[in-house]
Amino acid sequence: MDERFKSLFRPLVLPNGTVLKHRFVLSPMVTNSSTAHGLVTEDDIQYAARRAASAHLQITGAAYVDEYGQLFEYGFSSAKDEDIPGLKKLAQAMKSKGGKAILQLTHAGRFSTHTLKKYGFVYGPSPMRLNAPQPHEVKALSVEQIEAIVERYAQATRRAIAAGFDGVEISSAQRLLIQTFFSTFSNQRTDEYGVQSLVTRSKIGLDVLRAVQSVITEEAPENFILGFRGTPEETRGDSIGYTVDEFIQFVEWALEVAHLDYLAIASWGHDAFRNKIRAKGPVQGALVNQVVWEHFKGRLPVMATGGINTPEKAMEALAHTDFIGASTPLVVDPEFVVKMMNGEEDMIQLKIRLEDLEQLAIPSASFKDIVPLMDYGESLPQEARTLFRSLESNYKERS
Ligand SMILES: Cc1cc2nc3c(=O)[nH]c(=O)nc-3n(C[C@H](O)[C@H](O)[C@H](O)COP(=O)(O)O)c2cc1C
Repeated sequence: MDERFKSLFRPLVLPNGTVLKHRFVLSPMVTNSSTAHGLVTEDDIQYAARRAASAHLQITGAAYVDEYGQLFEYGFSSAKDEDIPGLKKLAQAMKSKGGKAILQLTHAGRFSTHTLKKYGFVYGPSPMRLNAPQPHEVKALSVEQIEAIVERYAQATRRAIAAGFDGVEISSAQRLLIQTFFSTFSNQRTDEYGVQSLVTRSKIGLDVLRAVQSVITEEAPENFILGFRGTPEETRGDSIGYTVDEFIQFVEWALEVAHLDYLAIASWGHDAFRNKIRAKGPVQGALVNQVVWEHFKGRLPVMATGGINTPEKAMEALAHTDFIGASTPLVVDPEFVVKMMNGEEDMIQLKIRLEDLEQLAIPSASFKDIVPLMDYGESLPQEARTLFRSLESNYKERS
């Protein structure tokens, strides 16, 4: 191994005592290769098995906890007991080389594009009329519906435990339901989940974490991992949806109600791990990762994600975080980390040819409608994204 990259291969101990062998994580990414009902397919299992040695900690793509929270047409579900056998096979595949498997649990709220396609409306914190991708209504969730969603996260955690996962990740990254309640752009409610205070904006996220923790405490094996993924700042021009300070306060409260083992920082855009704080104030211009990491240092491991596709960038990110999540690089080069560990970083290959798909266990019909997500980050070369776009033509409706 190149001496320069040595610190990437030091172990990391999570708060629950789990020892991770190195500082890389296979970050969550849906391949859109499950069934339309959210059942795991053989393609999903092969894809995961091929990446079982890609990183010690591996996180699945979003598994929706509620059919009204389905962002990806062919993503997988954690919303029903019928999902458990497939999830079990997925967990086994991910763990087959000694790694740890985490199931990511999500509700995409008003960004549930597939729910919109299916039902013609979506749910969010507050009523809205939106025009994209077609004119539609966002219905405000009632308090009873919110309570039911919180319970659905708890049920999905039960299923993750039953399926043999080593942990769950609750995602509140930008656009997902929990985040839209936290955002003063999206939340116009005035009730106990309303926009009037940080406490009320935080309530749904904290209720979810409390409910998930309670299932973990009652039913999970020792060292079950609980992660949280979030976007620390939301701005539009000079307007602020929420600040990094508010986000940090939310995570402090989260630590009071749940035993979090890590915080993954996520955001869309090119080289998101280099994002700077935009809101005016004393920390404007500072690195988002650094501010969050310095706050939680020694208490909560912080993961950098977004754009980390070379060893040099991994080192840069590790200067201000505890570990590194890579998504798209591990699609095209599952040995991305292994090559670095063996001093073969020159062999890292982010280009891909059609004839590589089989060896990489990439389903011949995958990434339908979600290649634009790869364009946001640009972590893969244009040619690779063009190839993935061409796979859309292989799609037949999956039942
Ligand atoms: C096709 C695609 C699917 C994704 N699916 C998920 C997902 O299910 N859950 C999630 O939290 N992030 C998802 N992401 C975001 C990635 O985890 C990651 O933040 C983004 O790709 C940037 O990281 P990278 O440069 O390492 O690829 C997805 C990204 C892409 C490109």
